[in-house]
Amino acid sequence: SQIKQIEFVKSSARARDCPKDHRPEFAILGRSNVGKSSLINALVRKKDVALTSKKPGKTQLINHFLVNKSWYIVDLPGYGFANAPESARMDWSSFTKGYFLNRDTLVAVLLLIDGSSPPQKIDLDCANWLGRNNIGMTFVFTKCDKTKGGKRTRPAENIEQFQELIRKHYPEPPPWIMTSSVTGMGRDELLLHMSQLRNY
Ligand code: GTP
Ligand code: MG
Repeated sequence: SQIKQIEFVKSSARARDCPKDHRPEFAILGRSNVGKSSLINALVRKKDVALTSKKPGKTQLINHFLVNKSWYIVDLPGYGFANAPESARMDWSSFTKGYFLNRDTLVAVLLLIDGSSPPQKIDLDCANWLGRNNIGMTFVFTKCDKTKGGKRTRPAENIEQFQELIRKHYPEPPPWIMTSSVTGMGRDELLLHMSQLRNY
């Protein structure tokens, strides 16, 4: 299930510009700055495959990366980024509709949630929107290395609270994995999980 090779294929502004070769793909979705691009780099064990930044709003297009010449991992712009300059802001509602509802080759969405913060309404809303539209997802909690802050940055407690809120909507909550792009926590587990979903 390891990534032996990865190549950037293209950036697309709209779903209809995305690659049309019907290979299976996983979309990386989550709030701006949650660590989407960093997770891709961690999975690949390289620093600079996907561009990252301390400033939210770094990723602005749908970026397709071809893995082992057989499947795609897709880096998406983050949602919930209110302070972007007008020119850099994107229309999230048309984007979500355009990409998620029309992408037949989507195997699952990896919904990234900051494990070092208490549950956020915008993440719960996103999970519920995907669920209502029958789009398969896996919760990937990021930044689980951040355990030294205060009470509010304890990943185990934040994740338990998030799951509790999710269970109100899903009797059987989606699979979930704790990760850190800094320590590599969860990397092998996530890669194995993705290979199982692809071979379903
Ligand atoms: P946008 O492209 O703006 O939507 O952001 P993104 O979700 O791609 O986030 P990105 O990967 O650029 O990371 C944002 C910041 O969080 C950077 O400063 C990263 O170094 C930091 N970061 C990402 N993952 C982790 C992690 O697992 N642990 C810690 N401690 N920091 C992380
Ligand atoms: Mg990014």
